[in-house]
Amino acid sequence: MPRRAAVIGSLILFLSVFGLAQGMDAPAGKTAGEVFKNIQVLKDIPAGELLPTMRYITVALGVRCSFCHVEGNFSQDTEHKQTARRMMQMVFAANKSTFNGRPEISCYTCHRGSSHPQGVPPIAGATTAAAHPAASAPAGARPSPDQIVTQYVAALGGADAIAAIQSLVKIGTLVTPRGSMKVEIDRKLPDKELIVLQSEQGVRRQGFDGATAWEQEGDGAPRTESGAGARAAGPPAPLEIALALQHGTQGMRVLGSEEVNGRAAWRVAARRPQGGFELLDFDAANGLLLRVETFQRTPLGALPEATDYSDYRDVQGVKLPFSVRVAGAENARTFQFDSIRANVTLADERFRPAGAGAGSASQK
Ligand code: HEC
Ligand code: HEC
Repeated sequence: MPRRAAVIGSLILFLSVFGLAQGMDAPAGKTAGEVFKNIQVLKDIPAGELLPTMRYITVALGVRCSFCHVEGNFSQDTEHKQTARRMMQMVFAANKSTFNGRPEISCYTCHRGSSHPQGVPPIAGATTAAAHPAASAPAGARPSPDQIVTQYVAALGGADAIAAIQSLVKIGTLVTPRGSMKVEIDRKLPDKELIVLQSEQGVRRQGFDGATAWEQEGDGAPRTESGAGARAAGPPAPLEIALALQHGTQGMRVLGSEEVNGRAAWRVAARRPQGGFELLDFDAANGLLLRVETFQRTPLGALPEATDYSDYRDVQGVKLPFSVRVAGAENARTFQFDSIRANVTLADERFRPAGAGAGSASQK
């Protein structure tokens, strides 16, 4: 048990810095009921979805893990944990009976970030809901998805300049609520990625070699994940998004206009290669990408994440953002790049876990 608690502890720390995908250590194909000790309601969900689900609950109720759990013993029951189980059953039953099984009701529907939902409407004038300022509407008629993509590709520097980029090395600082650290993100197109984070606690590496995603602390054994769910963990990158959009705009819809960081934008819904959808906000004036919003689905509701791009500068004929802010429901972190170099020669070995892990990666 203490080992599992430690693994979960380090995973959560990692999640909070990185927003990494689902619990990487969860054995593929196992259910939560098989992997964890005391699961009664969420027995049949994939084991890897349990932690995202727990993160979702904490956000929906505005509490910490310790609201329901005893430190160091997640399987022990508490009064709040028992209540939460009844609430889960209520949510599943309501969606089944009233919404044909569609996940319309979530914990957040009632809780809105509080452990005590409001049952009585507020007095007039005392409303706490943030008033939505009317978005400044973009000038001109609503463009088609093709027009938006054409304008975007041109704004970045054109299809030829984009196609000429084979690799990128970005160096700078990652600012998180826990402090700042040095960061380097290496990309070899189309899909290889290496992220190196250096803080007082040591070095952390995370990579994707096109098939296997991995993470490694110092010289420790790397944790790996391959298969359909494995992918690069870095924030979505405008250049790669342009490459994907150039392949075609089927499944893309222009939803309307939005105001993003004070700028008028066109909001587009697009299918993600790995399933689900994402929202893309394009600057209505200059065509550049301002924000990408994605949603991590859990059995109880969705966790949103927004990535904002700014400080676009020219790198070998292509405009790239030197500031990338990733904001989840729990916290936000900002990548501030000092330098971005293109077409540096990067060996494929660079994107595999460093050998020190005594073969634990190759055993898989
Ligand atoms: C509002 C209450 C609540 C909060 C907050 C909460 N959990 Fe849970 N957690 C539960 C319930 C309920 C279960 C059991 C689910 C079931 O029986 O299907 C559970 C089960 C677990 C388990 C499985 C334990 C085992 O071995 O059986 C882990 C691990 C866990 N939670 C981790 C977390 C973490 C980490 C957080 C904070 C990010 C968290 N939980 C926040 C209610 C909560
Ligand atoms: C239909 C509305 C609704 C939904 C949906 C809902 N809850 Fe609740 N929840 C309530 C109400 C009402 C209370 C009682 C609040 C009080 O006592 O002030 C409550 C109380 C709780 C409490 C006890 C809080 C305390 O301080 O005693 C927990 C824990 C909780 N809910 C968890 C959840 C979880 C987890 C979900 C999603 C699976 C969820 N709830 C979904 C309405 C809802």
